[in-house]
Amino acid sequence: MGTAIVVGGTGGLGLPIAAHLAARGDTVVVTSRTKDGAEAAAAEIGAGVQGLAVDLSKPETIEAALAPITEVDHLVLTAMHPTMSTLAEFDVVAAVTAHTVKLVGYVEVVRVLRDRFRPNASVVLFGGVAKDLPYPGSTVVTTHNAGLGGLAKTLAGQIAPHRINVIHPGVVGDSPRWREVPNHPHVARSPIGRLVTVAEIVDATEFLLRNSGINGQELYVEGGVLTS
Ligand SMILES: NC(=O)c1ccc[n+]([C@@H]2O[C@H](COP(=O)([O-])OP(=O)(O)OC[C@H]3O[C@@H](n4cnc5c(N)ncnc54)[C@H](OP(=O)(O)O)[C@@H]3O)[C@@H](O)[C@H]2O)c1
Repeated sequence: MGTAIVVGGTGGLGLPIAAHLAARGDTVVVTSRTKDGAEAAAAEIGAGVQGLAVDLSKPETIEAALAPITEVDHLVLTAMHPTMSTLAEFDVVAAVTAHTVKLVGYVEVVRVLRDRFRPNASVVLFGGVAKDLPYPGSTVVTTHNAGLGGLAKTLAGQIAPHRINVIHPGVVGDSPRWREVPNHPHVARSPIGRLVTVAEIVDATEFLLRNSGINGQELYVEGGVLTS
């Protein structure tokens, strides 16, 4: 129990993570780029959940946006700027935005909230297996998800004794992003014979938040796709 902030809490994974933390008794704040989006997600989760507008693609605005937050026990950063970009059709504007969200915005959120961390507070950053399994169009996503491991390692010392870890989900089959897509090629590659689920990502996130010995690590929740 404590105060949980889910940056990207309107998303396919962020919202169920926020709902889970609220259901177990945390005081929860969810963020979106817009006030309306954040407040709608907060209302969907339930009474007492707060919605806040935070745009990680504009890092210079983050400190003011997070001013209403006074204390933090659990900080989960799921936000992403979706982009498909190959080298041949490299979208410079989308690449700068997407990298800014994960590689600058995530850091700035941690910097701003660091002094409001309560004892035993911890942070979970969201990457993804595109880090190790590039696909056509994943150039930007593969690059910034690969950067998050280094980010966790450099921040672990600087936020000590608080902890920071990265979770790399595989393709989450029942998330809004993938549930209408039949026969994803990772099913055939997966030793568990299916894609991972939202519930498994929520559970792994809670594990990283709770377990007081894990720090500066990258946890893959992908059903073993990377072993095949
Ligand atoms: N779903 C999967 O299968 C999967 C697989 C591997 C990795 N992942 C990773 O898991 C994380 C969550 O994925 P998801 O499926 O939940 O994504 P999603 O449904 O697209 O949600 C993305 C979230 O990011 C927020 N966001 C977008 N741009 C933002 C910005 N500039 N500043 C602040 N927030 C912003 C969105 O809020 P608004 O649109 O309301 O502003 C939304 O809450 C991502 O980092 C993704 O890379 C997901």
